[in-house]
Amino acid sequence: MKPKISKAVFPVAGLGTRFLPATKASPKEMLPIVDKPLIQYAVEEAVAAGIDTMVFVTGRNKRAIPDHFDKAYELEMELEKSGKTKLLEMLRNMIPEHISCVFIRQSEALGLGHAVLCARPVVGDEPFAVILADDLIEDADRGCMAQMTALFEQQSHSILGVEPVDPSETDKYGIVEIEQAGERVGKLQTIVEKPKPEQAPSNLAVVGRYILTPAIFDKLEKTQRGAGGEIQLTDAIADLMNDEPVLSYQFEGNRYDCGSKLGYVIANVEHALLHDDIKDEFIAYLRSMTL
Ligand code: UTP
Repeated sequence: MKPKISKAVFPVAGLGTRFLPATKASPKEMLPIVDKPLIQYAVEEAVAAGIDTMVFVTGRNKRAIPDHFDKAYELEMELEKSGKTKLLEMLRNMIPEHISCVFIRQSEALGLGHAVLCARPVVGDEPFAVILADDLIEDADRGCMAQMTALFEQQSHSILGVEPVDPSETDKYGIVEIEQAGERVGKLQTIVEKPKPEQAPSNLAVVGRYILTPAIFDKLEKTQRGAGGEIQLTDAIADLMNDEPVLSYQFEGNRYDCGSKLGYVIANVEHALLHDDIKDEFIAYLRSMTL
C-alpha cells in the first residue's frame, strides 16, 4: 500500500516579534492577506493535499485560531437574517466537514523544533506534514504540499521544501547542500541553520514545508538549544540524516515570506490585484501614485 500523509502540523506558537505590535494579542498566522488569514491559506493547502487532520501547536494568545475554525452560530444567524447568503455559504464551507482540527499547547516558545515535538502525542508513529503558515506558497495547479505528498508516495523519505534565495540572505534560513537526484529532487548532504553567506554550503534554503518520518521525534527529544537559543528543527533533521535519507524538493509555485514585513506587504499587493471586487480601483490607485 502506498504511504499516505493524513496529518499536518501547524506550528503557530511563535512570538512573531517582527510584527509587533500587531502580534501582541493575536498570532502572526491570523494576519490577513487582503481578507483571508495566513493560517486559512495553509489549511486549504493541506486539504488540497488530501490531509484530513490539522494539528495546531498554539501558544499564548491562542484563542483566535480555534475561534477562526469553529462554527460561528451567532454570526451565521445574523448573515441569514440580513440575506447575505454568499457570505454565509463562504463561512459554512471554510473547511470540509471530514476535516478534524486538534489543538495542542506549546507552553513556552522554545523554538520550531520544540513546537513540532509538542505534536508527537497526536501524530504518533506515522509520517506527517509540517506547514509554516507565514510562508505563503501559491501554485495555481495543485498546491505545494500536494506536490510533496505525491513525491512521498514514491519515495517514503522525509522531504524538505526548498528554494534558491539570494546568497546574501542565507543567514535567515536553514541552508542545504544536496546531491541532485531528479529534476527538482535532491538527497541532502548537509543542513545548517542560518549560516553567514561566506559559510553557507549553497543558497538553497529550506522554506516552511516539510514531510517528516516519525523518527524525527526521538531526534527532537535529544536536540539541545541551538541557533538563537532555540530548539531547532534543522538540528534534529541533521541528526536524522545520519540514520535515513532526507530529500529536498524544489517546489513549483511562488513563495511570499509573510513572516517579514516586506514579504507580507508584497503578498497583499499581489493578492489585491487578483480580487475582482477591488482589482480595477486598486490598479487605478497604483497608477495614480507618483513615486
Ligand atoms: P519564526 O522563526 O518566524 O519565529 O517561526 P516567530 O516567533 O514566529 O517570528 P519572529 O521571528 O519573532 O518575528 C517560524 C514558525 O515556527 C513557529 C512560528 O509560529 C512560525 O510559524 N514557532 C516558532 C512556534 O510555533 N514555536 C516556537 O517556539 C517558535
